Amino acid sequence: MAAIALLTGASGGVGQALAAELRREGWTVALVGRSLERLQAIYGADALCIEADVSTPEGAQFALEQCQREIGLPTALAHCAGTTLLSPLHRTTPELYRSCLRANLDSAFFMLSAFVEGLRQAREPGAAVLVSSVVARIGVANHEAIAIAKAGVEGLVRSAAATYAPSRIRINAVAPGIMDTPAVARIIGSEASRAGAARQYPLPGIGDPVDLARLMAWLLSDKAGWITGQVWAMDGGFSSIRPLVK
Ligand SMILES: NC(=O)c1ccc[n+]([C@@H]2O[C@H](COP(=O)([O-])OP(=O)(O)OC[C@H]3O[C@@H](n4cnc5c(N)ncnc54)[C@H](OP(=O)(O)O)[C@@H]3O)[C@@H](O)[C@H]2O)c1
Repeated sequence: MAAIALLTGASGGVGQALAAELRREGWTVALVGRSLERLQAIYGADALCIEADVSTPEGAQFALEQCQREIGLPTALAHCAGTTLLSPLHRTTPELYRSCLRANLDSAFFMLSAFVEGLRQAREPGAAVLVSSVVARIGVANHEAIAIAKAGVEGLVRSAAATYAPSRIRINAVAPGIMDTPAVARIIGSEASRAGAARQYPLPGIGDPVDLARLMAWLLSDKAGWITGQVWAMDGGFSSIRPLVK
């Protein structure tokens, strides 16, 4: 029987790339999003699509239980639900701030919590991978709210990885720079703005969600069986190197 992966944010750019990658590697994937219609339009009526808002404890629990009912307990969690937010502190309203934390941090906390509890009850090992961002590691202007949310995700990953290592549950994160997905369509919509975004990164170009998906799939696989509590940057060198300015 194929191993089962639960994938949130399945309608998004990273989610779709990762769903394809996991299926290619033989996983059976349960696809979670807030609109069944949207998921079925992407994946077809035969795919296991689950309508749930994983930013609430009830929604996260429902997604897990529905997966368990339909195909079995997931031993992998790929948490791709989240948003980006380009907004300086002085323009970030309480509503913007709260919705950013809900989509990125609450969803990570509640989904990981439901996933881990499912494994604990079944006494099964497993692996989770969450998505942080380059802005959690390095100060990037106009990203205050999302920086808080993703720094929280990284803290969650490290602490939970420590708690559940004895239960053989591995928990890691990836931290990408800008990637070509619908989330940033407005930021890189024109050739000029795309080139401007790319200039921020030491390596040429901007991130490809397919590359990130490969890294995430690898972290969920047995090949990464002795890796936990890590945050893997994929950002063209943005967070760690500074090439010579000519
Ligand atoms: N693209 C980038 O440049 C970039 C850079 C750094 C980090 N990231 C992170 O990468 C992850 C994937 O992003 P992406 O680029 O694939 O974005 P995307 O294309 O917008 O997909 C994100 C998905 O998350 C779900 N979502 C949004 N708000 C939600 C909420 N409040 N509760 C539950 N689900 C919600 C949406 O699915 P439904 O509407 O169907 O529920 C959406 O399809 C996110 O965590 C993002 O923060 C992206």
